Amino acid sequence: MASLRRLSALLAALGTFSQIPTTYAADTVYISGTGLDGVTRQLAVDRAPALYTGDFGDCLGGESLMNITKFDAGFYYDNSTVLFHLEGATNLQNDSLMLYISVEAYGQNRFSMTVDPCFMNVDSLCPLNASIPITAYALFHIGEQQVSGIPQIAFEIPDFEGFARIQIFSNASQTEIGCFQAVMRNGNTFSQPAAIGPVLGVFTIAAIVASFATAAYGVSIPHMRTHYAHSLSVLAIFETYQSIFFSGALSVNWPSVLPAWWSNFAWSAGLIPALSIVHSVDSFAGVSGNASQVGGAGSTIINNQGGLLQQIYGRSLSTDVPDIYGRSVATDMPNSETKGALDLARRSVILAKRQPYNANNPYDYNWNGDPVTPGMPIPGDWSGFAGDLSELGIPAPDAFTIALIWLLIVLALVAFLVVSFKFVLEGLVKLKWINQDRLQFFRSHWRGYTCMVLLRTLFIAFFSMMVLAMFQISHHGRAGPTALAAIIFVFFMLGVGGLAIYALNFRLRFGKFASEPDRILVQRKTVWKFLPWLVPVRHSQLKEKESVQKPIFSLPFVHWHFMDNDKDRTKVHQDEPYLKRFGWLSARYRLSRWWYFIVWLGYQLIRACFIGGATSSPLAQIYGLFVVDVLSLIIIAAFRPYEGQRNTALAVWLLGLTKIATTGLSIAFLPRFGIDRILATVIGVVIIVMQALLTIAVLILIILGSISSWMSLTRNREYFPSQRLEGVRIKYFEHLERRALDKEAPKKEKPTAKLNPPEPEDKLPDLPKEPYFSVNSVRRISKIEDEDDDFIAEMEPVNASGPSTTPHPLNRTRRVDSVSSRHSVSSLPRGARVHRVSWSSRDFNSWQTTELDRPGTTLAKRLSGHAPSLSETNITGVLKNQASESSFRAYGTVVAGSRPMSPTLEQEERVINKEISS
Ligand SMILES: *[C@@H]1O[C@H](CO)[C@@H](O)[C@H](O)[C@H]1NC(C)=O
Ligand SMILES: *[C@@H]1O[C@H](CO)[C@@H](O)[C@H](O)[C@H]1NC(C)=O
Ligand SMILES: *[C@@H]1O[C@H](CO)[C@@H](O)[C@H](O)[C@H]1NC(C)=O
Ligand SMILES: *[C@@H]1O[C@H](CO)[C@@H](O)[C@H](O)[C@H]1NC(C)=O
Ligand SMILES: *[C@@H]1O[C@H](CO)[C@@H](O)[C@H](O)[C@H]1NC(C)=O
Ligand SMILES: *[C@@H]1O[C@H](CO)[C@@H](O)[C@H](O)[C@H]1NC(C)=O
Repeated sequence: MASLRRLSALLAALGTFSQIPTTYAADTVYISGTGLDGVTRQLAVDRAPALYTGDFGDCLGGESLMNITKFDAGFYYDNSTVLFHLEGATNLQNDSLMLYISVEAYGQNRFSMTVDPCFMNVDSLCPLNASIPITAYALFHIGEQQVSGIPQIAFEIPDFEGFARIQIFSNASQTEIGCFQAVMRNGNTFSQPAAIGPVLGVFTIAAIVASFATAAYGVSIPHMRTHYAHSLSVLAIFETYQSIFFSGALSVNWPSVLPAWWSNFAWSAGLIPALSIVHSVDSFAGVSGNASQVGGAGSTIINNQGGLLQQIYGRSLSTDVPDIYGRSVATDMPNSETKGALDLARRSVILAKRQPYNANNPYDYNWNGDPVTPGMPIPGDWSGFAGDLSELGIPAPDAFTIALIWLLIVLALVAFLVVSFKFVLEGLVKLKWINQDRLQFFRSHWRGYTCMVLLRTLFIAFFSMMVLAMFQISHHGRAGPTALAAIIFVFFMLGVGGLAIYALNFRLRFGKFASEPDRILVQRKTVWKFLPWLVPVRHSQLKEKESVQKPIFSLPFVHWHFMDNDKDRTKVHQDEPYLKRFGWLSARYRLSRWWYFIVWLGYQLIRACFIGGATSSPLAQIYGLFVVDVLSLIIIAAFRPYEGQRNTALAVWLLGLTKIATTGLSIAFLPRFGIDRILATVIGVVIIVMQALLTIAVLILIILGSISSWMSLTRNREYFPSQRLEGVRIKYFEHLERRALDKEAPKKEKPTAKLNPPEPEDKLPDLPKEPYFSVNSVRRISKIEDEDDDFIAEMEPVNASGPSTTPHPLNRTRRVDSVSSRHSVSSLPRGARVHRVSWSSRDFNSWQTTELDRPGTTLAKRLSGHAPSLSETNITGVLKNQASESSFRAYGTVVAGSRPMSPTLEQEERVINKEISS
C-alpha cells in the first residue's frame, strides 16, 4: 500500500484532474453522514461516491443467464455506505441464488462479500422468477475493517485500475449462472480529450498555417523552398502524436493510466469517436448486439426444478467459485481475515428492503455507467489495441473504417479551405482591399497547391492508415471492412509509395550509381573530456588532421554515390519544375538528403507492420519494434535529413529517443515478466511523463517555428515589428542561407565539439537577449593577414574583381548556385549587412564608396561577375558576397524610396537571374 501511496503522491504532483461533473439540481437534498474517518458532514444525496462503477459487461462472455440493464455499485466513504443496484431480466424459473460481490484493484482482491438475497429481502432474486424483472437495490453500512484493503489513495489516483464484479450462483445446481463486471472509477483520469485535444489542435493548426504560409508566400520557388524548409514540419508533429497514440497498439496488458492518456492523441490518427459514425460503422463492421443490456438470457423459460445441470449449458464450472457451498477454494479467494469481514458485512446490512428505482426523485444519481457497447472488451481490461480503443469507445473492428471516414472528411476539408482561400483572396483583390500582387504565385498556382496539400495529407496519414489497415486485415473481421482495408493498403502502397519512387526516379533517371571501396575506421575519442568512446569514421570523409590518429581497427566498406550524367544539372532545391511537382516530398530535407522521403516511407511501413500486423505475437511485435526503433534512430541521426534545426530536434532526436524509451519500457509489460500491477502503473506513469514532455516540446517548437515562419514572411519587409527580434531575424536569414547550401554552422574553436554532433548543430537557436549586432559600430584594426596578398585579393570588393557580364559556358553551375545565394541575400532587410569573418578597413572604405557611387548599372555586372561558387566553400567567401550585395541593396532602398523590399524586388532579381543564366 505504501507503494500505491507514493505513486499517488507522484500523480498528484502531475497536476489536477477534473472530477466528473455532478449536476446539482435546485432541489438538491442534503443528508448528514458520518464517514469512515469519523467526520460528520452534510452531503448531497446525488453526489458521486468515492469509488464507483462505470460501464459493465458480461464476464461469462455473453453466457450469463440474465439480461442486465443496470449494474451500479458505489462506495461512499463519507457516510460509510456501499450502494448496490442491479436491474435486469432472467429466463430462469424458481431458482434461489447466492451473490458474490468483489472488488479487484491493481491485480489484487481488495474487497469481497457474499450476499444472500433472501436475507436482504430482495424479492426479485428470492427466488428468481422469469415473470418478475430483477430489481435489486441495496445499501450496506460498512465499517473500517471491511474496506481495509482499499487504501485512501485509491480515491484520488487517476484512472484507478480495478473492477467490481458480481457473480451469481444458483443454489440448485451450485454453478455460476451469471457474472457481471464493471470498471471502477474515482472520477480522476488522464483521459481529457475534450481539454487536451483542442489545445493540441489549436497549436497544430498554427503549425499548419505557418507551414502553408511559408510555402505559399513569395515569388521565387527556390527561395520559398528555403523558408518552407525551416517552418516546423506538420508531418513531424503528426508523426509525434501518432506514435504516442499507437504505442498502445502493442499487445500487452496496459496499466489503466496509459490507454487513458493515449486517448488524448487518438484524433491525430483519425480515431474520433463521433457517435453517429461509430453506430453507422458498427453494422458495416459486423459489430452487433443490444447496447442497452448485457448478458445472454435466452427467450425460452428454463424451469430448473430438477436442478440446473451445468452440462446442459455446455459450460464448465467456473474455477473461481468462492467458498459459498463449502467447495474447494479458488486461488483468488479472500483469506480468512476477509471472510471474517464478510460475515460482519452480512450482519451489518442496515437497509435491505427492495426499493424501486424512481428516476424522478432527487436521490437520482448520474455517475453510473452503461452496459458496455457491443464489440468492446470487458470493462476493466486494457489489453492490447482493443483495450486502448475501448477508452475511446471505439470497437476494434470499427477502427479502420472510422479512421478512413475521417481521412476522407479531412481531405475534403483541406481542399475546400485551400480553394476558398484562393477565392477569398481574389475577392479581396477585386475589392481592392489588398494589393494586386499579394500572394500572386499562390493565386496563379492554386490548383497545384491544392493537389500538393492533398498529397501531403495522404503522406501524413500514411502511417496510421497502414497500421489500422494491417490491424484490420490481421484480425479477420467481416469481409467488408477487411476488403476495404486491403484496398486502402494497396492504394497507399502503390499510390503514395509509387509516387515517392516516381519522384525519386524523376531526378535520378539521368544518372547511375557508382561504388568505390572505402573503409570504416574506428577511432578512439574522448567524450566530454573523460569518457572514452569509439567513433566510426569513413575513410573517404577523414579530414587531414584526423587521419593522423591511428584507428583501432577498420572494416571494409563500399561507398555508394550517385553519378549524374550531366554534372552541371541544377541542384534539386533550385530545380523549379521538380520543386513544383515534388516539392511536397523533398523540400524539407537537406540538399544532400532530398531523397529522404523514400527512407521515411520505408521506415514507417516497417513500423506499421510491427505495430498493426504483428498484434497476434506480442513477443515478436515488441522486440521487433524495439530493434527497429533503435536502428532507425542511429540511421536517421546519421542522415540528419532535415534542413531546419527544429525539425531535426523534433523528428530525429526527441521523437526517436521517446520511441525507444516507450517501446523499451513496454517490454516490461510482457506477460512473461509478470510484473505487479502497481509497478506496471509506475512504469506507465514514467511513459506518460516522457510523452508529456515530448508533447510540451512539440508545443514549444510550434511556437518557435511560428515565430521563425513569421520572420520568413517578413523577408521582403524592411522593418520587423519587433525591434528586439530584429537581430534574431537577421541571424535567422543568415542561417537559412547557409543551410540552403547544406553547410554546417561555422565550427567553434572547441576540440570536443565534433564528437557530439547533435549538440552544436541541432540545438535550437538561442534567442539572444538583446540585439547583438550593429554594422555601424564595426571598427577594425588591421591584422597581419591584411598584408597577405592572397587574402586581400579574396577580400577585394566585387566590382574590383573585374566585371564579366558574359557568362562563361563552363560556369553554369556556379551561376546557378549564385542564384540561391542572391535569393537568400534578398532576405536581408535594410541594414542587415551580414557581418563577415573579418573586415578590413580598406574593404570598409571601398564599400562606402560603392554605396555613394550608385552602381545601378553595375547590378548585372556585380551579380554575374562575382558569383560565389560551391567550390568556394570557406564561409568568408560566401559572406563576402552577401556583404557587398546587401550593401548595394541598402543603397537602393535609400535612393529608390519605393518598396524595395517588397515582393517586387524578389521578382526583379529573379528576372535578372534569368537573364544571366540564359
Ligand atoms: C449515504 O449516501 C447515499 C447517497 O447519498 C445515500 O443513498 C445513503 O442512504 C447514505 N447512507 C446513510 C447511512 O445515510
Ligand atoms: C413468479 O411470479 C408469478 C407472478 O407474480 C407467480 O405467480 C409465481 O408463483 C412466481 N413463481 C415462483 C417460483 O415464485
Ligand atoms: C420452487 O422451488 C422450491 C424448491 O426448489 C419448491 O419448494 C417450490 O415449491 C417451487 N415453487 C414453485 C412455484 O414452483
Ligand atoms: C442457498 O445456499 C446457501 C449456501 O448453501 C444458503 O446459505 C442459502 O440459504 C440458500 N438459499 C436459499 C434461498 O435456499
Ligand atoms: C435491447 O434490450 C432492451 C432492454 O433489455 C430491450 O427493451 C430491447 O427490446 C432490446 N432490443 C433488442 C433489439 O433486442
Ligand atoms: C434477453 O435478451 C435477448 C436479446 O435481446 C432476448 O432475446 C431475450 O428474450 C431476453 N431474455 C429475457 C428473459 O428478457
